[in-house]
Amino acid sequence: MTITTIERLGQHVDQTITLQGWVYNRTSKGKLHFVMMRDGTGFVQCVLFKKDVPEELFEAIANAGQESSLVLTGEVKVDDRAPGGFEIKVRDGKVLQVVDEYPISPKEHGPDFLLSRRHLWLRSRRQWAILRIRDAVITSIRNYFDEQGFVCVDSPILTPSACEGTSNLFEVDYFGEEKAYLTQSGQLYAEATAAAFGKVYCFGPTFRAEKSKTRRHLTEFWMLEPEVAFADLEDVMQLGEDLIVRIVQDVMRRRAPELETLERDLTMLERIKGGFPRVTYDEASKILLEHPGSEFVAGDDFGAPDESILSAMHDQPVYITHYPKSVKSFYMKEDPTNPTNVLCMDLIAPEGVGEIIGGSQREENIDILEEAIKKHELPMDDFGWYTDLRKFGSVPHSGFGLGLERVVGWIAGIEHVREAAPFPRMMSRIRP
Ligand code: 4AD
Ligand code: MG
Repeated sequence: MTITTIERLGQHVDQTITLQGWVYNRTSKGKLHFVMMRDGTGFVQCVLFKKDVPEELFEAIANAGQESSLVLTGEVKVDDRAPGGFEIKVRDGKVLQVVDEYPISPKEHGPDFLLSRRHLWLRSRRQWAILRIRDAVITSIRNYFDEQGFVCVDSPILTPSACEGTSNLFEVDYFGEEKAYLTQSGQLYAEATAAAFGKVYCFGPTFRAEKSKTRRHLTEFWMLEPEVAFADLEDVMQLGEDLIVRIVQDVMRRRAPELETLERDLTMLERIKGGFPRVTYDEASKILLEHPGSEFVAGDDFGAPDESILSAMHDQPVYITHYPKSVKSFYMKEDPTNPTNVLCMDLIAPEGVGEIIGGSQREENIDILEEAIKKHELPMDDFGWYTDLRKFGSVPHSGFGLGLERVVGWIAGIEHVREAAPFPRMMSRIRP
């Protein structure tokens, strides 16, 4: 008996195989059952004729509702009309557990109902497609960096201080002796590992106690953070662009059925070819100030509506560079041609997704850096190790952070980043 998966049916045409999975949907007509079976790798229609299968199996299937677990044995038939291109002509099998009232039916449910049942909602076809795209994005990222000679060196999650400002830190009691925080970004540690390994990346969960209830914000999200010694802003902008092009290509190649399930408009993804447009903060401000309906205030950071206006002008993601120092983090390098600005970039994705990458060249001058730490009222004692990096072989270096859920959400074409995380954490939700 050959046990296989739905994903691999193409290797078993006209052979008898066994699938192990769950009932996704069933329709029955007298002497016939149609079972849409899912096994985690895909979905396939299984046909049971009363005369072809043991009586016991036929009866059991008649009572098997959505999510009943089962094992079916049958012949793999090519069927061009069937989704996936195959159908199973069932000969034998067993229902492991009959389920009759599964809470999530194919009808429409509200987001709160579904989020409260996330442990089950993961089984539905749309969530399956999104999270398989997430998997392909992660694999693509790791392959790309490995091929480019980067070393993965992860940063700690528990940290004694802030990286991206103190306002949105999650505090943890560290054995009653001192406070620790869940990391907002692995960057500062990645700067240390870049000086040890040259080209590095860290990739892990990061945390922001942000009181924002938007389609772009989670309180726990995964961030990819490459950091490169001897690289300037231009170098990491090119890196970010090459990476995004590569991710989109890999997902289109490896996850075509999932993109189809999501009815993703592929023309939007086919446009992502590189040569991303670039505008400076000053140029972008000028556009916004002249744009009817924009509420942008000169000198401020861009809000979500501002980013949408700017990205709508382009087919591809757009880089915005050289923001004012006052709206950015302490570690960013001053622009030598205009010290009120910093050498930084944000990459804004099309279709209203907003910022998917944020990065910069890092300040390598210890005096300017210490000044910035004071100005941002960060505890100098905790940054001694960080300023050491500027004492012992300081070099120009740059890096960025890519928000995994935002990239997955954009590629999958979903409205809210919460569906791009297996168990999303938001201001108003920590369960299940
Ligand atoms: O722009 P951010 O805050 O940059 C940093 O943390 C840098 N230290 C990264 C670096 O240079 N190594 O965050 C980087 C990216 C954003 O562009 C966005 O994609 C994502 O992380 N991000 C979030 N994603 C989901 N929910 C949130 N609350 C997010 N905040 C940031
Ligand atoms: Mg940012």
